[in-house]
Amino acid sequence: MSLLEGKTGLVVGIANDRSYAWYIAESLLKHGARCAFTHLPGDKNERRTRNAVAELGVNEPWLFPMDASSDEQIANAFSKYAESFDHMHFLVHSIAFADREWLQPGKFVQTPRQAFLSAIDISAYTLAAMAKHAQPLMARSGGGAIMAMSYYGGEKVVPGYNVMGVAKAALECTARYLAWELGPDKIRVNIISGGYLRTLASSAVGGADKIMEQVTVKAPLRRNVEGSDVGGTAVYLASDLSAGVSGETIYVDCGINTVGV
Ligand SMILES: NC(=O)c1ccc[n+]([C@@H]2O[C@H](COP(=O)([O-])OP(=O)(O)OC[C@H]3O[C@@H](n4cnc5c(N)ncnc54)[C@H](O)[C@@H]3O)[C@@H](O)[C@H]2O)c1
Repeated sequence: MSLLEGKTGLVVGIANDRSYAWYIAESLLKHGARCAFTHLPGDKNERRTRNAVAELGVNEPWLFPMDASSDEQIANAFSKYAESFDHMHFLVHSIAFADREWLQPGKFVQTPRQAFLSAIDISAYTLAAMAKHAQPLMARSGGGAIMAMSYYGGEKVVPGYNVMGVAKAALECTARYLAWELGPDKIRVNIISGGYLRTLASSAVGGADKIMEQVTVKAPLRRNVEGSDVGGTAVYLASDLSAGVSGETIYVDCGINTVGV
């Protein structure tokens, strides 16, 4: 039997076929899961996500618009999901946003209040906001797995990652508090700290080419991460194999976080 046979859930964050969420969905589907998807509102965004989902081989996907900066849109998307599916066994949070102007080495000290707050709002608070709506659906499913994507720049300084690093620190801590509160409902909340992957979001971070170059020399595996590396860990987290794992940050970065100099 497939690892995720009988499991259904929501994947948030597919912008195109290079998104981390796309690789996660590809792996979840490969292991037997049924996935629903959201996209940013707007025709162009919908088309892009729809095309990417089509590449995953999902016929007539459940696809719903959701701008996570709106509580109303989050509530609406989760209630539409609940009308279509009896269960939510997993939720993939793979979204982030910060104004690229402040993602350049040497610019952190200039970050305006609004740019700082909106980075934390969309990249961290939304995990709590979505977990609130996932909780009753997962509780009635006998438990569930929530996972969100982070990066090492939330823990150590990565010049250029700047306010996104602050947001990732908040995201990782949010996951731990959620894990504690939702644990009695058998809901596990974990973070995947992924290595650098070229995507729409990561192209906004200044100095990325240098980071990728260094990883091939310094990381234990002497290579950069691939989307499927993260996809495999997402399968583990969504499956019963990780039944005893919650509140963790799991690094999928070819080991670069373990190296001091
Ligand atoms: N690419 C990397 O190197 C890397 C490394 C570690 C962690 N991550 C994290 O992985 C996650 C996915 O990013 P990605 O690299 O796949 O880039 P991506 O651009 O493919 O995905 C980012 C997603 O965030 C969504 N998004 C932005 N604002 C939103 C909003 N207000 N409401 C709903 N969705 C919104 C976008 O629509 C997009 O689907 C992010 O949390 C990112 O920080 C990326």
